[in-house]
Amino acid sequence: MSDNRVYIFDTTLRDGEQVPGCQLQTSEKIVVAKTLEKLGVDVIEAGFPISSPGDFQSVIEISKAVSNPIICALTRANQKDIEVAVDSLKHAKRKRIHTGIGASDYHIKHKFRSTREDIMERGIAAVKFAKKYVEDIEFYAEDAGRADLEFLARMLEGVIAAGATVVNIPDTTGYCLPEEYGAKIKYLVDNVKNIDKAIISVHCHNDLGMATANSIAGVIQGARQIECTINGVGERAGNTSLEEVVMIMKTHNDLHLETEIKTQELNSTSGLISRLMRMPVQPNKAIVGRNAFAHSSGIHQDGVLKSRENYEIIDPADVGVANSSIVLTARSGRAALKHRLELLGHQYEGEKLDEIYQRFLVMADKQREIRDEDLLTLAGDTTLAD
Ligand code: KIV
Ligand code: ZN
Repeated sequence: MSDNRVYIFDTTLRDGEQVPGCQLQTSEKIVVAKTLEKLGVDVIEAGFPISSPGDFQSVIEISKAVSNPIICALTRANQKDIEVAVDSLKHAKRKRIHTGIGASDYHIKHKFRSTREDIMERGIAAVKFAKKYVEDIEFYAEDAGRADLEFLARMLEGVIAAGATVVNIPDTTGYCLPEEYGAKIKYLVDNVKNIDKAIISVHCHNDLGMATANSIAGVIQGARQIECTINGVGERAGNTSLEEVVMIMKTHNDLHLETEIKTQELNSTSGLISRLMRMPVQPNKAIVGRNAFAHSSGIHQDGVLKSRENYEIIDPADVGVANSSIVLTARSGRAALKHRLELLGHQYEGEKLDEIYQRFLVMADKQREIRDEDLLTLAGDTTLAD
C-alpha cells in the first residue's frame, strides 16, 4: 500500500446518526451501508452496540449486508461494552473494535473524576481485552484536542504496545486551530515510540467550522485515516464532511494524498443521507450543496460560458452532478440569457437580443429567479411583436 493512501472511515451511522432527529431504522441503515460500500469507504462505523438493542441489531445486520469495508463497533473502555461489540460483529468479514477513553484533564477530572495514571491503565486494559477477540483495534483518546501532549504521547505508546492498530486523535470539542492540530499530529509522529506500528486517525468536530481544515492539516502531518460523515452530519455543529476532505485531496494533487472513493457517487450519496435523516443540505454547502455549481452573476456566467475553469475548480461530473447551472436573475448578463434561450431552441443576436434582455431585466427585478417558462413567454412575446 502506498504511503500516500488515506483511509476513509465513515461514521455517518454512529457519530452522525446519534444526532436528534437523524435516527434511522435498521433497514435504512442497511441501505446507507450498501451505499457507503459502493462509494468506496474503507471503514464503516456501524454503531455503538451496547447503547441499545436496536443499535446492536443494526451492527449485526450491516455486518451481514456488506463485505468490502471493515465494520467497526464503538465501545467505552470496559469489558461489558467490548463483549457486546464483539458479539455484534460476529458476522463481519472484516471487523474492528473502536475503544477508548477521555485523554484531556477536563475529561479525566470532571467526567471520570480520576487521575491520568488510572485513565491510562483503563485504556491499555481495554485494548488488551479487545485484542483477545479481534485483531484490528482502534483506540480513541477522547478530547485529545485539549489533552496534554506529553501525556497523550505516553498513552498512545501504552495502547500501541497493548496491540492497537489505529490510534484516533479526536478534536472532540472542535476547539483546535488547523496549525495547532497539525502540529499535534506531527509531535505524535515524532515522539511516540513505535508509532509506525499504528495508523494515526483524525476525528474532528466542527464547532468552530474548522473540522475539514483540521483533518487536512492532520493528514499533511502524517495521519493516514480520516473519520468523517456524509454532509458533515454529527454531534452539535457536526463532524468533518467526507465529500469535502475527499475532494480537497483530489483537487490538490500536489498533496499526493489518495483515497479509493468513487467521487462520482458523492452527490447521490449526499441526497440519500439528507432524505433518510431528514436533514436538509444547506444550498451553499461545499461540493454537494444545490448552489455548489450554480452561477448567478453576469460576470461569472460570462466567464464560465467562455471556459468552465474560469470559475469552477471541480468538474461537476467528478462528483456526480450532470452540469453546472446558470441561474437567471436580475444580476445575469446577456451572455447567460442568450445561452439559455439557445438551449430552449431560440437564437437571438444584436438588437433583438438586447430588446429581450431589457424585458428580461424588468421581469427579473420582480421575481427571484427566471425559469424556462418565463423565458419562453418572453421569447413568444417578441415573436408576436414581429
Ligand atoms: O468525538 C469523539 O471524541 C468521538 C469518539 C467517541 C471517537 O466521537
Ligand atoms: Zn466524534
